Amino acid sequence: MKKSSIVIAGGGSTFTPGIIMMLLENLDRYPLKSIKFYDNDGERQKIVADACEIIIREKDPTIDFVQTTDPAVAFTDVDIVMAHIRVGKYKMRELDEKIPLKYGCVGQETCGPGGIAYGMRSIQGVLELVDYMEKYSPEAWLLNYSNPAAIVAEATRRLRPKSKVINICDMPISIENNLVEILGYKKRSDIVTRYYGLNHFGWWTDIRSRDGKDLMPELRDYVSKNGYLVQSDLEEKKQHSDESWNSTYKKAADIQMLDPDTLPNTYLKYYFYPEYEIAHTDPEYTRANQVMDGREKEVFSACKEIADKQTAKDTYLEVDEHASYIVDLAVALTFNTYERMLLIVENNGIIANFDPTAMVEVPCLVSSNGPEPLAVGTIPTFQKGLMEQQVAVEKLVVDAWEEQSYQKLLQAFALSKIVPNATVAKQLLDEMYELNKEYWPELK
Ligand code: NAD
Ligand code: G6P
Ligand code: MN
Repeated sequence: MKKSSIVIAGGGSTFTPGIIMMLLENLDRYPLKSIKFYDNDGERQKIVADACEIIIREKDPTIDFVQTTDPAVAFTDVDIVMAHIRVGKYKMRELDEKIPLKYGCVGQETCGPGGIAYGMRSIQGVLELVDYMEKYSPEAWLLNYSNPAAIVAEATRRLRPKSKVINICDMPISIENNLVEILGYKKRSDIVTRYYGLNHFGWWTDIRSRDGKDLMPELRDYVSKNGYLVQSDLEEKKQHSDESWNSTYKKAADIQMLDPDTLPNTYLKYYFYPEYEIAHTDPEYTRANQVMDGREKEVFSACKEIADKQTAKDTYLEVDEHASYIVDLAVALTFNTYERMLLIVENNGIIANFDPTAMVEVPCLVSSNGPEPLAVGTIPTFQKGLMEQQVAVEKLVVDAWEEQSYQKLLQAFALSKIVPNATVAKQLLDEMYELNKEYWPELK
């Protein structure tokens, strides 16, 4: 069996140890020659990397391990780049969330004004990774989680059209794990789903058992009452099961009411229930604060403990959905499995009545040739109208980045469903531009 070499870009991410645990649990189906960590913040990365090096050594000392901030070292001789960088780190996420709230808008990492500001920061960082990969390992694939994935995907489609980049999201598969629990099934592969939309902006239209039974009636009924919240969210520690995620999962019941035939992505709540969201948010303590005091503290202290003890024997670090999905994708690309996976790809006729150049999230068959999307057909007016507005916002952000255009960025803010009017759009843009000077291109 071929042994792969991978680099994790954003080695200092809170999600890196989960990916390492997943990789090490799957060496029989995905053998590894080397694992490298790359980050532009060597100090942050070191905390995670020193621990992961021990975890790897204890599991399989034949795997080479390297941590580096040098792109030439990181990207040379790799088959797969797994990217999850956060340009501006949590300090900037906090501002993405808090500034909109001052203007009465939802403040969210990937939606509305916060997502636009984050998009303007991320494009450069992700394109840099693509360029390093093409320079040092031109045959490799870049699997990108870095958010906002919708905007990053539009940027890579447009600005690096020939590059082997696949943008992904763990939200739908995480929700699918809950659907499996609702149905009393065992694993995600027990169900086959049809889904379409933009990233963080989509709907399930069909869910069946492996033997063809239509499971939508049972699921619609459950979700209309409970959203996606299930017992294990209350009992177990999972990636999406802290208090804030549980309330997001529950809120899906209200979104589902808008189109009872389908099941919605949880992120639609920010567009349909902004007033609820704002009323339930502390403007002084947003999700970024929760994550810094929660996941970041937990992961970093677990890592420090491993480094102190020089063993990972009793660690509570574990695999999550984020990790399992990206490893499944690497396996499908490496071993030509034609596994069916939800990915963000160019529409190109997949949704018949939608912009062919839009980046859409749809089921694909994944082989070593990359993703082959499955046809969706014609979508209804409700979804089409929403998606057209949202995709235009995403495209305007990339226009603005590419052309350094203040005007286009103002249009993006004004068009976003989350921004109430053009006065607020301009105020938000001006304040966010000022705070993002270090990261955004200069606007003319
Ligand atoms: P984090 O801040 O813990 O980790 C990000 C790391 O990226 C940091 O160590 C930082 O130093 C590094 N970094 C920033 N800019 C860089 C650059 N230009 N080059 C190299 N490294 C750089 O963040 P996190 O909460 O662990 O999330 C990581 C990323 O994954 C975020 O973009 C997040 O939104 C994304 N994410 C996406 C999904 C999805 O569904 N697509 C799911 C989970 C997380
Ligand atoms: C989900 C989404 C990701 C997002 C993450 C944020 O997994 O799919 O795109 O980055 O949630 O989670 P957090 O716990 O950092 O708020
Ligand atoms: Mn996502």
